[in-house]
Amino acid sequence: MARKIKDNVFFLNATDWNRRLFDSLIPLPDGTSYNAYLIRGSDKTVLIDTVDPAMADTLSAFLEDVEKLDFIVSLHSEQDHSGCIPLVLEKYPDAKVITSSKGKDLLISHLSLPEEKITTAEDGEELSLGDKTLKFIYFPWVHWPETMLAYLKEDKILFTCDLFGSHLATTDMYVSDECQVYEAAKRYYAEIMMPFRNFIKKNISKVEELDIDIIAPSHGPMYDKPEFIVDAYRDWISDETKNTVVIPYISMHGSVEKMVDHFVSALEHRGVQAFKFDLTVTDIGKLAISLVDAAAIVAGTPTLQADPHPLVSYAVRLANMLKPKTKYVSVLASYGWGGKAIERITEMIPNIKAELIEPVLVKGYPKEDDLKSVERLADEIASKFA
Ligand code: FEO
Repeated sequence: MARKIKDNVFFLNATDWNRRLFDSLIPLPDGTSYNAYLIRGSDKTVLIDTVDPAMADTLSAFLEDVEKLDFIVSLHSEQDHSGCIPLVLEKYPDAKVITSSKGKDLLISHLSLPEEKITTAEDGEELSLGDKTLKFIYFPWVHWPETMLAYLKEDKILFTCDLFGSHLATTDMYVSDECQVYEAAKRYYAEIMMPFRNFIKKNISKVEELDIDIIAPSHGPMYDKPEFIVDAYRDWISDETKNTVVIPYISMHGSVEKMVDHFVSALEHRGVQAFKFDLTVTDIGKLAISLVDAAAIVAGTPTLQADPHPLVSYAVRLANMLKPKTKYVSVLASYGWGGKAIERITEMIPNIKAELIEPVLVKGYPKEDDLKSVERLADEIASKFA
């Protein structure tokens, strides 16, 4: 059932408790929700976004007692929010879809919406619903080029779609457990928003200058203390890193594991926090979360047919795609008879603008001198952090 946020403003959350993978890439340990919002102005009624097509029945039930709909606002064209627009238009054939100038083309190409059904809103444009006013605010690249926000002026509600969202299935309308939502929102930021950190930095003032009572994202609970999530984003998008080392690795016969364990212990003794991720069992979301703040990434890999292990290549390419603000990178590698595992890894990270600290390459199982080289790497990193 739709739940009231303020007079004539409703929260339509389709909660998917069981979804475990998003975009065929992102693990969802806590499920997710797709939030749409209904605003009944004195003259016009508006639906803000829809839900994932897999939950179309839930949306239909929400709209059962809505006789007339004038507008569907599409803040973001990705199908988990736009996918039910055709269904909603079937029920309300006179409704118009409002989107940003770049959203129009995406809605047509992804959903085959008829062009005449779509009207575009400019940045800063206002839509009067009678006693309520929606203002559209362009906030591109969170995380597609067309994204925009909508601000309900009279009720001080900012609808942000993916921005500030969290993949979290919950019965809460608002954040109740800040620790739980912080982790889920940071995971969401890491996996979806982090590559666009500089766009968020450029546009965050558009949010800061508004008088906001409620931030209403399209995934996870709403924020009735908006500063909680805005402050968290300020921290994540800043250029500041934390003195932590993230170590994604694979070990086939124990050589890399020995190096990694020695490295973790050496860092520990130098007062440096390390996060070790065995990629055979790691939740890549946890790895992504650790990349949000880490000052250093050190990949550990054996050599397999002259290359890094494929799971290490995957993790390194993923890190490159996520563009963390990491300042230092290095490699702990082992080999049997040859190969270029280190060179291949360093070629895979053009997006990470970090200093390469001299890697450690070991033939076979690490000997005493090899472990001294591992300690040298720990020393260098600790001195960078001092
Ligand atoms: Fe929740 Fe980018 O879609």
